[in-house]
Amino acid sequence: MCYAIPGKIVSISGHKAVIDYFGEKKSAFADCSINIGDYVYAQGGVVVDKIRKVDAKKILSFWKNKFLELEQRDNELAKKIKGSDSFEAIFSKIQNGKPLNRNDVNTILHANPYANGKNVKALRSFANVLRKKKLKNSCCVHGIIEFSNYCRMNCAYCGIRSGAEIKRYRMSEHEIILAAEGAVKLGFKAIVLQSGEDYFYTKEMLTRIVKKIKRMRVLICLSLGERDIKLYKALYNVGAKAVLLRFETSNKELYKRIRPGKRLMDRIALIKKLQKIGYLVSTGFLIGLTGENKDDLIGNIMLSKKLKPDVYSFGPYIETNPNIKCNASLNTCLNTISFVRVLDNNAKILVTTALETLSPQAKKLGLLAGGNSLMIDVTPEKYARFYSLYPGKFMETEKKIKETISLLNSLGRAPIDLGR
Ligand code: 5AD
Repeated sequence: MCYAIPGKIVSISGHKAVIDYFGEKKSAFADCSINIGDYVYAQGGVVVDKIRKVDAKKILSFWKNKFLELEQRDNELAKKIKGSDSFEAIFSKIQNGKPLNRNDVNTILHANPYANGKNVKALRSFANVLRKKKLKNSCCVHGIIEFSNYCRMNCAYCGIRSGAEIKRYRMSEHEIILAAEGAVKLGFKAIVLQSGEDYFYTKEMLTRIVKKIKRMRVLICLSLGERDIKLYKALYNVGAKAVLLRFETSNKELYKRIRPGKRLMDRIALIKKLQKIGYLVSTGFLIGLTGENKDDLIGNIMLSKKLKPDVYSFGPYIETNPNIKCNASLNTCLNTISFVRVLDNNAKILVTTALETLSPQAKKLGLLAGGNSLMIDVTPEKYARFYSLYPGKFMETEKKIKETISLLNSLGRAPIDLGR
């Protein structure tokens, strides 16, 4: 099994193409020359590769039955379970476009399996049904290469903050390219390049790296933190098309405390500038930081929605600093995924690697709570052990891939593109 299924171009208008995957139509941005009838791979709504008709037909003939089988499984799993009358009344408000009050939101976000088992099931199943209705069984799996754990910032929550006493590494340009080639060989069609805010990597170096990886015909997503907008623009022009940049928290006082010397408004301005350049932007927040007030989770969800992210990326804060305790429960994180899905039906929601560390079941539960994409760490093992944004992250790549494929199989999720 690979991590993407090719589709057939059925219409083109300017840079926008419509791709057919076994009858499902998804739109995608195309900046390469394509024609109606071509077979392509797309990732995150961007056409990344064109393949020969004979090769595509071979791959699709393998996938055809498999795809139907997966679709059937997803249909069986995505069934709405009814909650209490008062809970269902909140869902109807959302569906009818009526505003929720604070009480409604808290009822949803803080529903817990002990006190409100029926309602938790209702919430998860409602979100899962909406996910299926809007995105079908598409699931994106991106490979992430964490190429440097040096960081000039000292963010209180982060395991690679400049003040943390950890073994530091930087991958050379050559090592990064080799790691990307390795990931492509494993079947990945989208590569996330992540590092601390490490100015060792200059515009020239990053440009060379992006250009070389672009030739591998994959979606390149950057997660480099706050760098100059001119750098981001240059990297967009040479082929990077997605960015991951969280705002971390919508509480501006808390933001100042956990990211010393930085302001939330500048972070948000940067996110907007990246969107303006044309990047697919993935953003979101940490759940459960000490110092949050009780409405911060709602504020975080609302700010995310307002930013209209191409992908929502939020997950629990995992303790790396004894001064900042982790207050996120798996249940709250899952409720957050479901609530975001219910509020923004078309959302693309990443089930984050941080969530996965909370429980061996977390990835599955996240996908069944309304989530639809995953990331797999493909950093070379000798370095991956030291990229400790938070503890409990390391696992061998092959093992992770195997586990993920069997999970997606069991849930009926297929690696067709989510579209734009
Ligand atoms: N727990 C969970 N997520 C973390 N990140 C950084 N440190 C932690 C942690 N301790 C997340 C931040 C950052 C992303 C790259 O990793 O949200 O934006």
